[in-house]
Amino acid sequence: MSAIDRVRDQLSSCQYTWLVTGVAGFIGSHLLEELLTLNQKVVGIDNFSTGRQSNLDEVEEIVGPSLWSNFSFYQRDIRSLSDCQDSVDGVDFVLHQAALGSVPRSIETPILTHESNVNGFLNMLEASRLSGIKRFVYAASSSTYGDHPGLPKQEDTIGRPLSPYAVTKFVNELYADVYSRVYQLPTMGLRYFNVFGPRQDPNGAYAAVIPRWCQTLKDHEACRINGDGETSRDFCFVKNAVQMNLLAALSDDPAAINQVYNVAVGDRTTLNELFAQLKRLLSEIDPKISHASANYADFRSGDVRHSQADITKAITLLGYKPTHRINDGLSETVKWFSSN
Ligand SMILES: NC(=O)c1ccc[n+]([C@@H]2O[C@H](COP(=O)([O-])OP(=O)(O)OC[C@H]3O[C@@H](n4cnc5c(N)ncnc54)[C@H](O)[C@@H]3O)[C@@H](O)[C@H]2O)c1
Repeated sequence: MSAIDRVRDQLSSCQYTWLVTGVAGFIGSHLLEELLTLNQKVVGIDNFSTGRQSNLDEVEEIVGPSLWSNFSFYQRDIRSLSDCQDSVDGVDFVLHQAALGSVPRSIETPILTHESNVNGFLNMLEASRLSGIKRFVYAASSSTYGDHPGLPKQEDTIGRPLSPYAVTKFVNELYADVYSRVYQLPTMGLRYFNVFGPRQDPNGAYAAVIPRWCQTLKDHEACRINGDGETSRDFCFVKNAVQMNLLAALSDDPAAINQVYNVAVGDRTTLNELFAQLKRLLSEIDPKISHASANYADFRSGDVRHSQADITKAITLLGYKPTHRINDGLSETVKWFSSN
């Protein structure tokens, strides 16, 4: 039996209370869907800065009214310590996702990014410590590898941050490490690498590349590629990230706790390859898309050139086994975008 099957089995006979911060966002809403499907109780908070009510509505429709009744939502802001304290009361596990994402946003609004990503993070850690939760699992980021050129990326070897966003995510790891050593709060950091999937927001200046291109292709417009298109990423389907959250929360191996893990697949796809693959998949649904083109623009400041994860640590210590490689994930994502 795989590690994730064992965790699902364990959860089927035991109902815990989980706090998901950023629950109306992309990854948060997938965590909510999985936990409710496993008959868990979930408290969710979000300030709707980038999250959407429609993500919650979609989860409600998927899980149905009976499982949905295990969910309590509060519109709250992690920049307020009392909001965080009110939210962790009676909670077993925290899955902390709330933050302002996007490297370019952080370059334009570093103070705003810091307030949610660092002050908000510290508020959540402090509230979790005071309430005595079982484990604090948080969204870290592959941006922490910064300017280190080594590939594939291994957890212990990082470079200098390339953006304010990357600084905030690195600070999260430092605080989590200190809270685990000084206050014995068990923490697990998940360095997500370009997570994608249904419900990821395609709109606005800070949208991630996959949802943005799905929408642009659907609208029969030209996609913009930043740089020469040979920039590469380890694109990770959201179900792999959900799996890692459950494994990190429930692992009982002392060697696995108070660690950070890469969350990815271990593959590398260039933007040119991604564009070709999305165009192929979407033109099976709308043949007009087979004529779509791409425009090349300048490289974006703060972006790393290549990114690919070594996922050995997650495999060895947590029994992680990605269920979706990029093409499996893109097929599911494209289906969702064409029907939404
Ligand atoms: N998607 C990725 O590829 C990726 C990669 C690395 C790290 N991450 C991290 O994963 C987490 C989730 O990302 P996502 O892609 O789901 O983004 P998202 O923007 O869809 O979700 C973030 C959620 O947090 C909420 N939020 C932001 N500030 C808040 C605040 N002050 N108080 C309460 N709620 C607040 C937003 O409204 C949103 O619903 C973030 O911490 C992000 O930095 C994501």
